[in-house]
Amino acid sequence: MAKTKTSFFCQNCGTQYAKWMGQCTSCKEWNTIIEEVIQKEEKRNWKQTSAPKKANKALKIAEISINEEDRIPTQNTELDRVLGGGLVKGSMLLLGGEPGIGKSTLLLQIALTLPKKVLYISGEESQSQIKMRAERLQILNTNCLILTATNTQNIFRAIQEIQPEVVVVDSVQTLYTDYIEASPGSVSQIRETTAELTKFAKETATPVLLIGHITKDGAIAGPKILEHMVDVVLQFEGDRNHVYRILRANKNRFGSTAELGIYEMQSTGLREVDNPSEILISQKDDNLSGTAIAATLEGMRPLMIEVQALVSTAVYGTPQRSATGYDTKRLNMLLAVLEKRAGFRLGAKDVFLNIAGGIKVDDPAIDLAVISAIMSSNEDIAIEQDFCFAAEIGLAGEVRPVNRVDQRILEAQKLGFHKIFVSKFNKINNKKFQIKIVKITKVDDVFANLFA
Ligand code: TYD
Ligand code: MG
Repeated sequence: MAKTKTSFFCQNCGTQYAKWMGQCTSCKEWNTIIEEVIQKEEKRNWKQTSAPKKANKALKIAEISINEEDRIPTQNTELDRVLGGGLVKGSMLLLGGEPGIGKSTLLLQIALTLPKKVLYISGEESQSQIKMRAERLQILNTNCLILTATNTQNIFRAIQEIQPEVVVVDSVQTLYTDYIEASPGSVSQIRETTAELTKFAKETATPVLLIGHITKDGAIAGPKILEHMVDVVLQFEGDRNHVYRILRANKNRFGSTAELGIYEMQSTGLREVDNPSEILISQKDDNLSGTAIAATLEGMRPLMIEVQALVSTAVYGTPQRSATGYDTKRLNMLLAVLEKRAGFRLGAKDVFLNIAGGIKVDDPAIDLAVISAIMSSNEDIAIEQDFCFAAEIGLAGEVRPVNRVDQRILEAQKLGFHKIFVSKFNKINNKKFQIKIVKITKVDDVFANLFA
């Protein structure tokens, strides 16, 4: 009898060990190393009848032809934007995200709108559950087949029968192959089942869309090699208590990773948001103090967002500083700059900061809006509604230039703002824009310019 071959894998990062250890030397996690059976049989092909191997011939780069039809447009503009123009034939796409964020909804919606024969395989929900979800989405594609399966051999049998043009798998953590003993979701199962699917995708030029779970730190669960094996890694993120979702490419072999897609979760599924700035700025009638609009960039997309600040006298001994959607450390730094360089006495005040819409921003260009919102709340003077900001603040209180300032100014102008505050050191051709551009150099100038 053949000896059962086993190996030890860290369930967090996928590192393989010859023996058990308490701590993974690679990711430093404790108690994550588990023994897995990796007994394999020789023939592991996605097709039971193995085809003769076609050897690829080396070609001069000039001789290689590319045809544009290799992409399948998904009919979903936001996804197409992130992918760089549609699904590439034979590509593997991995979609990760927190539980309940809408991964299954997004891919089911794509499966239902694609004008192709789609096989949607779920290991997480039953066929009737998926039907119920599809009815909420109110799009019914007669070309979409639903299969509940977790065994890859069964899946490939179904695929050979159905001959789909696109395959969706929800999720890679539920899959298992007969050739490996380890349980579904374990490192070796994830690696093997993905390898089988990749082989299928490449050999038949069928795009495969995989859903992947994430770990508590936000990385895709399973071996790191999973991300290397696939062509595109997308991340679906957002705050579950808010309706906006952002789709980002972490890796894209066929396009830029700077693009992003924005969706709104509605009762009828995910709606594409083509003009995000309009919804991120809250509509109000009166001028309220403590809000400022920042012209930021999310990836390549300009976005106008609303920064809200509340400064009040501290009730307890130690003043509170809290930020939602913004780095608290950076907030503390900006408060120190305001205190030291502009003479604002905020030491005994509570400061709360919020980015409207549940969006998380780490663009430093929002600094100036943060400072202005804090000043406005502190003085209880509202900032004009048609003012906006785009500049970074340095530790010396200097107002620093930001990248792609033209794009930000254009977005502000398009949305009807009349004045934008930027750094004096940003080279801008004023004649190009109708919007009034106010150039400032120091934090102390902000106050005078804003409330004069
Ligand atoms: P789901 O796609 O199941 O998340 P994931 O696969 O990432 O775990 O999305 C679940 C959430 O989406 C659920 O909490 C309800 C919400 N939802 C809507 O608000 N509207 C809808 O039309 C659908 C289908 C889901
Ligand atoms: Mg799901």
